[in-house]
Order: sequence, then structure tokens, then C-alpha cells
Amino acid sequence: LLHARRPTPGPRRAYQAPDRRPGRRVPNVLTGKRILLVVTGGIAAYKAAELVRVLQRHNATVRVALTAAATRFVTPLTFEALSGQPVATELFAPGEESQINHIQLAREADCLVVAPATANFLAKLSWGLADDLPSTVALACRAPLVLAPAMNVAMLEHPATQDNLRRLAARPGVVLVSPAAGELACGEIGAGRLAPLEEIAEAVLVATSPKDLDGLRLLVTAGPTEEPVDAVRYLSNRSSGRMGYALARVAHRRGAQVVLVSGPVLLPRPPGVTVVDVRTARELQAALDQHAPAADALIMAAAVADLRPATTAPGKLRKAALGDSLPLAPNPDLLAELGERGVPPLRIGFAAETEPGLEAGLAKLAAKGCQLLALNRVDLPDRGFGVDDNEVILLDRQGVVARLPLASKERIAAGILDQLARRWRELPAAPAGADHE
Ligand code: PMT
Repeated sequence: LLHARRPTPGPRRAYQAPDRRPGRRVPNVLTGKRILLVVTGGIAAYKAAELVRVLQRHNATVRVALTAAATRFVTPLTFEALSGQPVATELFAPGEESQINHIQLAREADCLVVAPATANFLAKLSWGLADDLPSTVALACRAPLVLAPAMNVAMLEHPATQDNLRRLAARPGVVLVSPAAGELACGEIGAGRLAPLEEIAEAVLVATSPKDLDGLRLLVTAGPTEEPVDAVRYLSNRSSGRMGYALARVAHRRGAQVVLVSGPVLLPRPPGVTVVDVRTARELQAALDQHAPAADALIMAAAVADLRPATTAPGKLRKAALGDSLPLAPNPDLLAELGERGVPPLRIGFAAETEPGLEAGLAKLAAKGCQLLALNRVDLPDRGFGVDDNEVILLDRQGVVARLPLASKERIAAGILDQLARRWRELPAAPAGADHE
């Protein structure tokens, strides 16, 4: 994806999907979405070129509009080559306006992204000024708006900019991606750097996702547990946390309030999600006891160790002291215990299996008292543990609810959340402010 494509020759066209390298697995969550990226005139404008790529990796079709100031930092040709689309720059350019009509641009966009957004452009958006093509498109656009400000720290902290940011953030459909702190192009240190591009892409996903889980309080568990033998050794498993993190990310995008209880993993924290770190099964149990009563639903994607060493040595055991057997003690079955108490009211378990067939999954569904169970294989190299993809059969007491074929874990998460959304809507409403006990 790093090579630059030549601008598309021939007649100018409306949005067109960019070429995709065959066989590349991407979350595909922006498939069919048309993003209009407005680049305004700041030094971070060069980063917007890579943002085009990041959005394309999510399968979005990206069109770009540049302010006149932006063209002093980056050229339209760069964006034309990257996006494979004509780039809009001027409102009254001969020929251009008839071919890239600003109203058309505004209408076609599923999401308008301004990155970097300068203090000047934010002020124009805040007050509804429309004196160039990008600001005119922004005013004419009904799609959600993602703003990624980047500027000098003093400009950012100026009360005028802060007022504008507050006004914009309060507007429905606006998602603000806070600038990062660090060394700025002007040499000063402080807030004002363009947010990391993946954060901007995540904001686009939040802005463009349906909000069918708005109001849902969701508890998700993810990752392995580690059961210490001594100060340096532990028992664990191959869970990477990817499945649970995908569930948390996608649920947040769809409007849920998510608490993610995470075993030790090497994944970035999903933005907008409250993360509770745990190590052992008993720490996970304590976190569930704390958060489950206030949740509407639980998804147990964590791979909880069924057994732990019967004792844990505080220091490192000498090799001679290890012996040739390790006495073990059972861990509590966390999902089954919550199932017995009926807390929270909706519970989805996972079953990690190494053989085909539904029997083991149906048995776990009953034993753990959950309404849905996601049956997945963990013995195949392209799904399950540690990879980006999965395949799941969703079961309830009646049998198969849905088959979610091999796809990215985000896609699988979306399929599981569709079923959860349906069942949640059918739940009798709890009295206002009541916890589920
Ligand atoms: O993390 P990844 O690398 O993305 O991999 C994802 C995954 C394969 C770990 C995930 O999709 C998955 O299958 N998670 C559940 C793993 C597991 O513990 O399965 P199980 O069949 O042993 O347990 C059944 C259910 O009981 C699970 O929901 C589990 O969280 C729960 N359980 C298990 C043991 C225990 N002591 N307490 C529990 O609550």
C-alpha cells in the first residue's frame, strides 16, 4: 500500500472504491463509506497524506479537499495520487466547480474529517463562515464531522480557540479528537500535535457507526489470566485479548458504555472504554463482582485458567525446589457463578474448542447459565487464539442462532453484538437508577 498510484486519467468520476491488494485482511469496517477529508493549512498537513492510507486500509473511499493555505504545505497531486480521486481546492476555479460541485461533495460524504484543523478553520466552523471551498462544503454537509485540531500550544489554549472547541464539541454529530502533547513544529512543548492517525480513524468509526447500543452498560472480559507459581513463573494460555478488545471497541462505537476487564495483553487500550487490568482468575472475579451489578450485559471472552498452583512462592523457587509435580487448586467458574445469580441479566459466554460439533458448546451454555454462547475453534492456525480473524457459531438454548463465517474479529464482534442488541431490546426495562441484583 505504500506505493503511490498515478492520478486516475480520463473523465472525472464520483466516488469510486480504491484498488485493494488481494488477500489483505483488514477490518473492512468502513466498506462502502465515503469520507471527505479536509486538510487545512498547518505543518501537520503532511500527516494527512498517511491518514488517507489509514482510512483506505479500513476500506473507506476517501476524497480530499484542501484549503489554499494547505496547498502551501502539501500539493493536491499528492492527495490525488493517494486517493485516486480528483482533489477539490477552489470554490470558483474554472472547470473545477462544475466537475467537483461543492454541494455534491457535501451530499456524497458519509463523514467529513478535518485533519489537521487549524484554529482559523475551527473558528470558521464554529461561526458558520463559508468563504472558501472546504468551509462551504462543511456548512453544506449533514454528515457527522470529525475534527482533529493541530496548532501551536498558545493558539490552542487561547480562550477564543477553547470557546470554539467547546461550541463545536457540543454540536450533535461532532466528534473531537484531542490533540496530543509533545514537541511542536514551532519548537515549543505542549498540547497541539495532531492526534495519532489510528485515533482519528477510530473517531471516524465512532462517527459513522449506528448507535443501536446507546444506553447499554456492557461488561467485557478479554485476554488470558496468569496464575503465578513463584515470582517469575506462571501458568497461562495463548489468548491475546484481540477478540475481547474487538468486542469492546465495536460496542463503544455503537454507543455502549463499556467496561473492559483485561488480563495481561499487549494491545492498545480501546479509546472511550474503561479498562480494568487484572492478572489472575481471582482478580478477574473481584472485578466482575464490582462491575457486573451495574451492567446490563456481560461478554466473557477471557480465557480464564481453570486451575492455579495450590501455593505461590513469594521469591523465585530454586530449580531443585520445583520438584517433578505442581500441586494445583481449582479456580472458581466465574461465568457459572454469575449465571446462578442472574447478574447481569444478559450473559454471553465463549467456548474454546479443538473439535468440530455443537455438543460441547451446548453443554457449556447450559452449565454456565448464559443466554448466548459463541463457539470457536482454537486448534486452527487462521482463527481463534492470537490472530486477527475468527469464526464463530452462536448458540442459544434452542440451538444455532447465527453462523459468523471466518472474518476479522471486529466483524465477528459486530455479529455477536447484533444478537446482543436484539435480546437487550427485549429485556423488561429496569426501574430507573436500579442496579441488577
Ligand atoms: O484472545 P484471543 O487471542 O483473541 O482469542 C480469543 C479466544 C479464543 C480466547 C476467545 O474467542 C474465547 O474463546 N474465549 C473463551 C476461552 C475459554 O476460556 O473458553 P472455555 O471453553 O474454557 O470457557 C467457557 C466460558 O467460561 C468462557 O466464556 C470463559 O470465559 C468462562 N470461564 C472459564 C473458566 C473459568 N474458570 N471461569 C469462566 O468464567
